Amino acid sequence: MKKNTATLTHGDTSIDLDVIEGSEGELGVDIRSLRAKTGLITLDQGYSSTGSCESAITFVDGENGVLRYRGYPIEELAVKSTFTEVAQLLIFGQLPTGGQHQVFSDLLSEHELLHQDLLHHFEGFPAKGQPMAILSAIVNSLGSFHPDLLEIQNDEEFLRAAAKLISKVRTIAAFSYRKSLGLPFIHPNPNLRYCTNFLHMMFSLPYRDYKPPLGAVKALSTFLIAHADHEQNCSASTVRMVGSAQANLFASVAAGICALWGRLHGGANAAVINMLTNIKENNIKIPVLLEQVKQKRFRLMGFGHRVYKSFDPRAKVMRSVAEDLLATMEKKDELLDLAQEVAEAALADEYFQERNLYPNLDFYSGIILRALGVPTNMFPVMFAMGRMPGWIAHWREESSGPHKIHRPRQIYTGETKRDYVDRNKRGWKIRQTSSWDSF
Ligand code: ACO
Repeated sequence: MKKNTATLTHGDTSIDLDVIEGSEGELGVDIRSLRAKTGLITLDQGYSSTGSCESAITFVDGENGVLRYRGYPIEELAVKSTFTEVAQLLIFGQLPTGGQHQVFSDLLSEHELLHQDLLHHFEGFPAKGQPMAILSAIVNSLGSFHPDLLEIQNDEEFLRAAAKLISKVRTIAAFSYRKSLGLPFIHPNPNLRYCTNFLHMMFSLPYRDYKPPLGAVKALSTFLIAHADHEQNCSASTVRMVGSAQANLFASVAAGICALWGRLHGGANAAVINMLTNIKENNIKIPVLLEQVKQKRFRLMGFGHRVYKSFDPRAKVMRSVAEDLLATMEKKDELLDLAQEVAEAALADEYFQERNLYPNLDFYSGIILRALGVPTNMFPVMFAMGRMPGWIAHWREESSGPHKIHRPRQIYTGETKRDYVDRNKRGWKIRQTSSWDSF
């Protein structure tokens, strides 16, 4: 049998399908001609065996716990790079030169303010409004403030749109937090770098500038790097799906934010902290907790991953950042000790071993955010800030590809054709009118 062909037999028909090989040796059967040749489609609910595209952005090897952005290992980027450098890497494919990075940083400063009219939108949200709802709504509304960027025609326009999103998402995130506390907005300071500027907008008060504690800026940068992309996850796939309809970048990314809000995706970091707090406050014993998980009463949040079946390398990065940050700040967080105890017990348990369930990115990331003073309802927003470069990179890749709208098929399982049942046979009281208002 030829290595680069897979043969599919159904009834009397047998066809050869091309096998495509990726740059890391991953193989995929190209089924694009399957329906035309056989009338068959494939069924893969949840897409665990389906490749939706070819992509050159991020490589994940779930069996061996490998994650690389554009070829660079996450462990190295986490230590050596800044978040904005990684954003350029993901979006444009290369680590930036000093000059390229300066241009990008200047653009981020240029676009950091929000249009004054956009600020009025914040007033319409309730005081305790979910920051994630505010973020997705305001990011979507950016499209109406930048109509010149709805149809991106060239690289310069794309760069401007990308810089606007990466810069403004930080301002919107900080303002949504200030709004929830009824505090005045602190405008971005163009003299501050990305992460310091965000902490300034979050925690400064008028005439009282916030000085981030030692280690906080680096920890935030690493947090954002670890969240920056993760190939075809639910939100990135959403961005690509929406983008495939040739929707603009702002609308596509806003859809990604909505997908990320889900408890099984970007909402998991907050769920982990809520779970750990609940264990602590109610003095729940870890074996009792694990027993309830095994009885499927709830899931152990921050555990398990669709792709990682050994360990999630981001969890290791997040754990060491959390430990270092707390040590540098000379702080203690009982939830970190508790998280480590829960992880140890789960990893030693057959249920978790058999199902290859390991701590994921979200298991330790919340500890970092707590140490930085970020409240739990802002956790998914922090994730969204980090994921912005990944979404933009995916939108660009999708838009510069073969321009095929994503349109899966289905196996229909509903009623077959049947006769219409008139209303008088369905207990309706028929009004005696023949006029148009009966509708
Ligand atoms: N706790 C307990 N059991 C679990 C967990 C968990 N966290 N995750 C999976 N399982 C079990 C399932 O019950 C199932 O058991 P079964 O075979 O006896 O029915 C088995 O493991 C496989 O689970 P699936 O749901 O099929 O795995 P899937 O790959 O679809 O789900 C997911 C991945 C959604 C991340 C899942 O592991 C989960 O719900 N984890 C908790 C939420 C979480 O931490 N999400 C963050 C993901 S990372 C990210 O988005 C950045």
